[in-house]
Amino acid sequence: MTRTKLPEKAPSSRRTTLRTHHLGELNLSDIDSHVSLCGWVHRRRDHGGLIFIDLRDRYGITQLVFDPKLDQHSHDLAQLLRSEWNIQVEGRVRARGEGLTNEKLATGQIEVEATKLKILSKSKTPPFSLCDDKIDVNEDLRLTYRYLDIRRGEILERMLTRHKIVKIIRDFFDRRGFCEVETPILTKSTPEGARDYIVPSRVHEGKFYALPQSPQLFKQLLMISGLDRYFQIARCFRDEDLRADRQPEFTQLDIEMSFIDKADIIDMIEDLMIEIFDKILGVQLKKGFRHMPYSEAMEKYGCDKPDLRFGMEFHRVTDIAEKSEFSVFRDQIAAGGIVKAICVKNGAAFSRKDIDDFTTFVNKLGLSGLAWMKMGDEGLSSSIVKFFSEPLQKELIKRLDVEVGDLILFGADSLGVVNQAFDHLRRHIADLQGLKKEGDWKLLWVDDFPLFEKDKESGLPTSVHHPFTSPLKEDFNKLHSDIFNVRSNAYDLVLNGFELGGGSIRIHDSEIQRTIFELLRLTPDDITNRFGFFMEALNYGTPPHGGIAFGIDRIAMLMAGASSIRDVICFPKTQRATDAMMDCPSTISHHQLDELHIRVKESKRG
Ligand code: AMO
Ligand code: AMP
Repeated sequence: MTRTKLPEKAPSSRRTTLRTHHLGELNLSDIDSHVSLCGWVHRRRDHGGLIFIDLRDRYGITQLVFDPKLDQHSHDLAQLLRSEWNIQVEGRVRARGEGLTNEKLATGQIEVEATKLKILSKSKTPPFSLCDDKIDVNEDLRLTYRYLDIRRGEILERMLTRHKIVKIIRDFFDRRGFCEVETPILTKSTPEGARDYIVPSRVHEGKFYALPQSPQLFKQLLMISGLDRYFQIARCFRDEDLRADRQPEFTQLDIEMSFIDKADIIDMIEDLMIEIFDKILGVQLKKGFRHMPYSEAMEKYGCDKPDLRFGMEFHRVTDIAEKSEFSVFRDQIAAGGIVKAICVKNGAAFSRKDIDDFTTFVNKLGLSGLAWMKMGDEGLSSSIVKFFSEPLQKELIKRLDVEVGDLILFGADSLGVVNQAFDHLRRHIADLQGLKKEGDWKLLWVDDFPLFEKDKESGLPTSVHHPFTSPLKEDFNKLHSDIFNVRSNAYDLVLNGFELGGGSIRIHDSEIQRTIFELLRLTPDDITNRFGFFMEALNYGTPPHGGIAFGIDRIAMLMAGASSIRDVICFPKTQRATDAMMDCPSTISHHQLDELHIRVKESKRG
C-alpha cells in the first residue's frame, strides 16, 4: 500500500491535540520542523543500530528513524514495536540521504528523527497482513475482521470515493431545488419483486412491520403532498438470492419529480452521470446516451442489461436450421423452440477442449448442447456442417458476417433457455478474449419494457418493474386483450452489463391503478388491505409524476473498479446474508421471543 494519492491536500485542520501533521503531509518544505505524529506501525526495519519505522494512517506513510545517539530511551522502546501497534512520536523532520528517497510516497523525500516515543496501544498479531497491496485471504476472514480489512487501505480508498460520489449527488440535487427527505424504515410491504424483511411488533401481538424494499410509495405520496422534487440516499432491504451486485441491504439514490415526462428524467440523469464521471474519474461522457428497446436487447443479447463494450450479438437462424438436415435443430424447432447463433470473432482458435468447456457451461444453464462450426480458408468445418447444404452455409456466413478464423456457436431450445444460456456464454467468452476493456464506459438506456411478464410458476401476470408503473398511453387498449404486449413507460440505465438504475412515469389515476391491481389478480380486499391508504391518496389531486432509483453501491463498485458491491460497502453481508463479524442473524432470548409473541419451531433453533 503506497497511499500516494491523497483524497485531497490535507488542510492543517487535521492537527489535533496529539499530532501536528498527518502521515501523508510532510515534505521538503517542512525540514527542521519539530513535529508530533500518530499512527500504526506499518513496517519495522532494524539496520544495525538504527531502527526505521514506517508509520501509517489514513492519509499516508511517514518514515521514522530511531537513532540511539539521539535518544537512547526511545530507541530501546522502538525495539519493542510490532506491526499495528499504535504510537505517538515527536521529532525533527530531515531530508532523506542521497539515493534513499522514495518517489512512490508523498512523504518520500523526508524522514523524521524521533526523539520521543509513546505507545498508545499494542496490537495482537493481525489475522492477515495489512501491508500487502494484494490480499489473498478468504473473504469470510476479511469480513470477520472488517475493521482491519478497512485499515489495509484498499476498502478505505473506496469508502472515500463513495463519500465523494454521494457528496456530488447531494450538491447536484440541491442546486436543482430537490429536497432530501428521510422516509420510514419500519413500514409496510412495498412490492419490488423480492421477499420482505419482517420486524415483529411487541405492542401489537401478531402484527409485523416490513422493512422497505424501496421508498416507492413514500416518494409518490410526497408528490401528492406537493413537494415537487424529492430525493433521498435511501437504505433498502430485500430478501433475495445474493450475487456480486446484490446485497440484502443496499443504498439507493431515490428520485421523484412532479409535472414531468420521461424526457425530463433522462435529461437530468444524463447531466448527473456526466458530472459524477467527470469529478470522480476525469472521464468526459457525451450527452445523449444510446437507447435500446427491451425487445431489441433481448433479441440481440438475451438480457435487459447488455454489455456493449463488445459485439457478439445473437442472430436468429431458425429459418436456416429448419431447412438443414440436422435433427437436433429440427427436433427443437418441431417442439416449438428456436435456434440462435453467435459469431465469435477469432474464435476458431478455441480448442475442442475449450468448446467442451463451453458446452458444460451452457448445460449448467439448462441448454442441452452447443453446436459449433469453425470458419477456415476452405470454408466451414465441424461434424454438423454436412447437414447444411452449400446455399444454407452461405446464408449463415452472410447473416452472421463470418470471416476466416471465426467460430459460430448455435443454441437450440425454447427462446428463454437459449437467451439465458447465451447471455452468460457471451459474457464468459468476452472475459476469455479480454473484450471487457477497462475505462471503456458504455451507458445505455433500455426502455419500452413490457408492463407484465408471466410468473414462472403460475403463468399469471406479474409486474416487470412494480405495479405503480404507467403503461404506455398507446398500449392502454391492449390491457384487457393482449396483456403481455402492453409496454410500460419505464426506463433502466445500464453500464457495462450492470443495471445501474431503473424508474418510470407513474400511474396517477386511481381507476387505472385499480385496473392494474386487478390484472395482477389482487382482490378488492387485497387492494384495501395492502394499498388502501395509497388508493385513497391518489384521489386528492395527484400530479403527473415519475422518477428513478439508482444503486449507489453499484455506481461506486464500477467507478472504483471493484468486482463486487461488498467491496464498496463498509460492513457488508456475506454471500449467505450473514454478518461474519457480529455473527448475525443470531438467536434471541426466550424472554425477547415471549415479548414478541413468537414461538420458534424447536427443530429450527439449532
Ligand atoms: P429497482 O428495483 O430497479 O427500482 O431498484 C433500483 C436500483 O437499485 C439497485 N438494486 C440493488 N443494489 C444492490 N443490491 C440489491 N439487492 C439491489 N436491488 C436493486 C439497482 C437497481 O437498478 N422503486 C424503484 C425505482 C423507481 O421506480 O423509481 C426501484 O426500487 O441498481
Ligand atoms: P448429439 O446428437 O446430442 O450428440 O448432438 C450433436 C451436436 O449438437 C453436439 O455438438 C451437441 O452439443 C449439439 N447440441 C445438442 N443439443 C443442442 C442444443 N439444444 N442446441 C445446440 N446444440 C445442441
